[in-house]
Amino acid sequence: MFDYSAEFAKIAQLGEAVHTDKVTYSMYHRFYARILPLLPEGPILEIGYGDGASVKFWRQLFPEREYFCLDLDVEYEEDLVHVIKCDQSSLDSLQSALSRLSSKRFALIVDDGSHHPDHQILAFNTLFPLLKDLGSYVIEDVETSFWRHTNVYGYPLDCGIYSRSGLIERLKDVIDFMNRQFLPPHNLQSVSERLLKSHLNPSLCLQINDISFAHNLVSITKADSVAVATMSRDYRFQSNILSGPLKKLSYYLPSTLKKSLKSIFKFR
Ligand SMILES: C[S@@+](CC[C@H](N)C(=O)[O-])C[C@H]1O[C@@H](n2cnc3c(N)ncnc32)[C@H](O)[C@@H]1O
Repeated sequence: MFDYSAEFAKIAQLGEAVHTDKVTYSMYHRFYARILPLLPEGPILEIGYGDGASVKFWRQLFPEREYFCLDLDVEYEEDLVHVIKCDQSSLDSLQSALSRLSSKRFALIVDDGSHHPDHQILAFNTLFPLLKDLGSYVIEDVETSFWRHTNVYGYPLDCGIYSRSGLIERLKDVIDFMNRQFLPPHNLQSVSERLLKSHLNPSLCLQINDISFAHNLVSITKADSVAVATMSRDYRFQSNILSGPLKKLSYYLPSTLKKSLKSIFKFR
């Protein structure tokens, strides 16, 4: 049986030994203890080198896995470690890093870089396709979504609660989108439009299996083919999500005609 306390203690001990503030201050091992045991096989990618503590952390936790790290001004290779210069605020820079990463399929991607919400979304859009099915995409330090009139790593920032400049408010739409099967066509259209306005690509969000909002951290699991098919199938209580004339129409229409209408209007 999965032993959360043992996993928590193991990660805590390793994190303290290498002095990563993931453990010493942020206590993220209370989330990683549940995320890490479920990871598929494969390499790890992190944005944000800092003083290198997390390189040691991941290497000691997973000595057999290849580890890639992106940061502004550091670059080196050793054993299974590849540190690559990349600016996550720039699509060009992310895409040029992709030329070195694109053959990889990552089990875990961690964004511990600039913490600017626009960059968090840009990195997500660019890197999420490189995640393996059932792999985890973790965004640390989402506290910046609540910051007002300030800057982070020199990047100006003005978010605050309910602000759509923040990451958290924008990602809340993913919850509705994941449940698109239960939405009437006009709602699905408005959720898709909200995602697009937030620069979140709906076709990428189709591949989200689950999203978890934790204290200062968001984790997103990539759907496998079973999950994608489950979220895209016809809804068995379809008539319950329609109202007014649409509901009446749906009740009287033969199922074959309903199916063809659905395929024409692309609603689920
Ligand atoms: C919090 S530190 C990373 C800490 C490290 N992951 C750890 O746990 O030890 C954040 C890092 O993000 C980097 N950073 C800031 N802006 C960035 C950007 N636009 N692109 C890539 N990295 C950036 C900084 O240089 C810094 O090294």
